[in-house]
Formats: sequence, structure tokens, C-alpha cells
Amino acid sequence: NLSLCKREPEYFSPRSCKELMERYKTEEDGLYYLTSPTGVVYQTYCDMTTAGGGWTLVASVHENNLYGKCTTGDRWSSQQGGRPNVPDGDGSWSNTVTFGTAEAATSDDFKNPGYYDITAENVAVWHVPNNERVDRWKLTSFLRYHTETKFLKSYGGNLYSLFKQFPVKYNAGSCPANHGPSIPVVYDVGDATFNHNLFGPNARGETEPGFITFRAINYEKAAMAICLGVKPKGCNTEHSCIGGGGYFPQESPRQCGDFASFDWDGYGTHVGWSASKQVTEAAVFIFYR
Ligand code: G3P
Ligand code: CA
Ligand code: CA
Repeated sequence: NLSLCKREPEYFSPRSCKELMERYKTEEDGLYYLTSPTGVVYQTYCDMTTAGGGWTLVASVHENNLYGKCTTGDRWSSQQGGRPNVPDGDGSWSNTVTFGTAEAATSDDFKNPGYYDITAENVAVWHVPNNERVDRWKLTSFLRYHTETKFLKSYGGNLYSLFKQFPVKYNAGSCPANHGPSIPVVYDVGDATFNHNLFGPNARGETEPGFITFRAINYEKAAMAICLGVKPKGCNTEHSCIGGGGYFPQESPRQCGDFASFDWDGYGTHVGWSASKQVTEAAVFIFYR
């Protein structure tokens, strides 16, 4: 039936996993095609079951080499080195550049048009071990949480627009006065204590678990995009927050990179300021609903 074929894209062009679930009654987790209003068709993962489902994977932050400080693969901070004259680094948190693929989201950075196109209310975060295949993501993710306050409504409907208001940029403000919002989270896998214990003892002493924080700033005025399940109490935010601008002054470029300074007291050592190997070697997935 030719006329039906011709009309199919129009019938089947969901803009988000939420729309896919609500309009097309799709119930299974997995990879689907979405279409942006400008006609960009892209594939991403939909979580159709957690807390009512309809969650769209819009980004993954993957640390390919913690020893490379703002080098290739640090797409959520800077691939151009750590330098004060590149204060916002690659600018990925508030531009429309896309990269990676859904199926490789545990092996490389991923950012799709949904990140800036979808109007959403809440975010969810998953920590999925590096190099896991799509069909094992849900099983192997060791920490998952989501917001329920619909906070994105107050910040333009997505993180692209939130980070326009809170630039992820060196020297955009100081700590603690200019942190962006901290939003309470509800845990789907793991809990606040488990979340907290992924970080080193010194980092735990400076954070309160059970929140997600956007655009944190440290003592030296470096900016980080997302604090992973924590609200900063102190100003060494580089040990529990990811992404960033293009300059981290403390012992530059030691703290510059997608996972900032998770390795300050050694890689994966889980002592002092260092994060655990488990969280260091897992991609951070960001969903919208
Ligand atoms: O971010 C950690 C740093 O500010 C303190 O480290 O090694 O001087 O105790 P350290
Ligand atoms: Ca990366
Ligand atoms: Ca510090």
C-alpha cells in the first residue's frame, strides 16, 4: 500500500522516548529512532520501564583516559588542553555539536540532538561499566537515580538551556556563591550511601549525597557540569563532579578532563580524594523525561 508507506514517517516520527511510549504504546527498553523537528533522524536508547518509563538517553560522559588531561576524548571538557584562554573548552554542554553513537555509549562519549531539542522535566542518571553492550546496560548499571521535581521547567526544558544560564566555563563565578541548582534524587538502583561511597573519603567529607548538582565551581574558579548524586558542601568539587570548562588552575592540567580529578590520590585508589575504580571505569548516562 503505497499511500500508507508514504505516510509512515509522519505517523512514526516521535521526538522523544516519552512520545514514543505515549503515542505508539512502545513498552520495551532498547534502541529506537527519534526525529527532531528539523528532520534529523537519530538512534538512541529508551528506558521504557523505570518509574513509568519514557526516558530518552541524550548523552553519555565517558572517560577514555584519565591520564590524558584535556586531550582527545575529553569532549565534555576540552580536547584542546587546559588553558585559561580556552575558558569554556569544547563548549559541549551548551552547543549543538553532536557526537558518538547510542550503541557505543559505554565506550565513547555520546551526545545526540535530543540533548538540545527535547523539552523535558526531569533527568535520570545511570552509571554503566565501560564497554558493556546495549543488552546488558540495565543489568550491569550499578547506580541509577532520577529527579522528580520537574526542575527543568524552570531552566528552559533541558540541560542545553540550563547550561546557557549556568555556563560551564572557567572564571564564571566562585565557590560556594555561584553553584547552579542542586536537585534531590530518587534512587532506582543503589542508594545515597552507596552513591557517596563511590568517592574518596575526603570527597565524601565535602559532599552530601541524594542530590544532583549542575554547574559546580571549585576554589580556583574551574567549572564542572554535573556532581554525581551529591551536593557540594566544600569547594574541592573536582573529585565528585564531571565535565568542565577548558581550564582547571590547580596544578594545571592535572584536574582537566571529563572526569576532572577523580585520580588526585592515584587512579582508582579510593583513598584521599580519589574515586573508586568502579565509578572511574563507568560511563555516565544522562536521560530526559
Ligand atoms: O583538591 C584536592 C586539593 O585541593 C588538596 O589536595 O593533596 O593538597 O591535600 P592536597
Ligand atoms: Ca570523554
Ligand atoms: Ca582542590
